[in-house]
Amino acid sequence: MVNQAAIPLLTPYKQQVGGKLELNHRVVLAPMTRCRSYGNVPQPHAVLYYTQRATSGGLLITEATGVSDTAQGYPETPGVWTQEHVEAWKPIVDAVHRKGALFICQLWHVGRVSTNGFQPDGLAPISSTDKQITPDGSGMVYSKPRRLRTDEIPQIVDDFRLAARNAIEAGFDGVEIHGANGYLLEQFMKDSSNDRTDEYGGSLENRCRFAVEVIEAVVREIGSHRVGIRLSPFLDYMDCVDSNPKALGSYMVQQLNKHEGFLYCHMVEPRMAIVDGRRQIQHGLLPFRKQFNGTFIAAGGYDREEGNKVITDGYTDLVSYGRLFLANPDLPRRFELDAPLNKYDRNTFYTQDPVVGYTDYPFLDEHNNDDDFGARSA
Ligand SMILES: Cc1cc2nc3c(=O)[nH]c(=O)nc-3n(C[C@H](O)[C@H](O)[C@H](O)COP(=O)(O)O)c2cc1C
Repeated sequence: MVNQAAIPLLTPYKQQVGGKLELNHRVVLAPMTRCRSYGNVPQPHAVLYYTQRATSGGLLITEATGVSDTAQGYPETPGVWTQEHVEAWKPIVDAVHRKGALFICQLWHVGRVSTNGFQPDGLAPISSTDKQITPDGSGMVYSKPRRLRTDEIPQIVDDFRLAARNAIEAGFDGVEIHGANGYLLEQFMKDSSNDRTDEYGGSLENRCRFAVEVIEAVVREIGSHRVGIRLSPFLDYMDCVDSNPKALGSYMVQQLNKHEGFLYCHMVEPRMAIVDGRRQIQHGLLPFRKQFNGTFIAAGGYDREEGNKVITDGYTDLVSYGRLFLANPDLPRRFELDAPLNKYDRNTFYTQDPVVGYTDYPFLDEHNNDDDFGARSA
């Protein structure tokens, strides 16, 4: 029985072109760094964090997960480059699957968003460039990076390939290549942070070459139906800005379209605009959505009302929720009931406690958090 009264966000979704993605609803857990994987090893307490947010036929994306020992830039973030990491992920993935959700591992290399202290042997972080991120006054100072030599780049591509293989071995349904938010792939893609003169710099095609090679390597390794990507052409995080974000986004979507059945394209909206004193989503992703052949996920500033609207309008297939899902483990259920939401606590976003600001956000109904959401819409 299909629930006739379901709000658009809670309607089922089936990938149309060549793909295999089938979901009971469209409320996706956005990738969110949680600095609680001590020594880069995923911890047993992550079972609770992710299963709290898992629903039958839902889609969860992990926190950004390092592809190698040079990929780190934040304390206690998980990796997926050693067998120990793979073994540690297995029970977490398994528990999420037992709740009937799909689980995607976000593969990450921070590039220059790091310090020598996070790097093996205290070496400089690696990047497309040797330009340091301009300190923003917050007190955080990233180290001066070292520009990768051309002949070193295949090794980094291979790190992504191997990490993808490991993620599949750990049981994940697929991977999301982190090509957003100012990290390594974006450092290559955007012209503010790519000052190279080799075949990985200069023209748009050259700047995107590294990302395209990562996508191709990962697709070859695990199959296009298990590979998604996250892109944020409009954002300016970490000194990563492009002078022509529309051309950049469009070029990347064309590359994705070459891989039939590609899992999804996940894009982050431009920064919120202030209109009449209220923060508003700018809805800048439509050209990419139209151009992309597969499943589209929109992210950045969405709430229940805006999410329903963009699903109804066909602006996107799925919507990912970050901060609201962090603070409301039963977010799809709250959306269903139009229930009030818990407020997120920014102060505990990046702290290391295994409970506080992590698994202690209350459910609407503490006796009913063994959620079978979606079972109704089979
Ligand atoms: C605590 C925190 C950690 C985040 N970590 C990641 C991350 O690991 N990978 C990523 O792609 N985006 C990350 N983001 C960005 C979110 O995925 C999302 O795009 C952003 O919060 C905007 O969506 P929202 O308005 O629904 O929160 C993070 C955001 C927050 C608040």
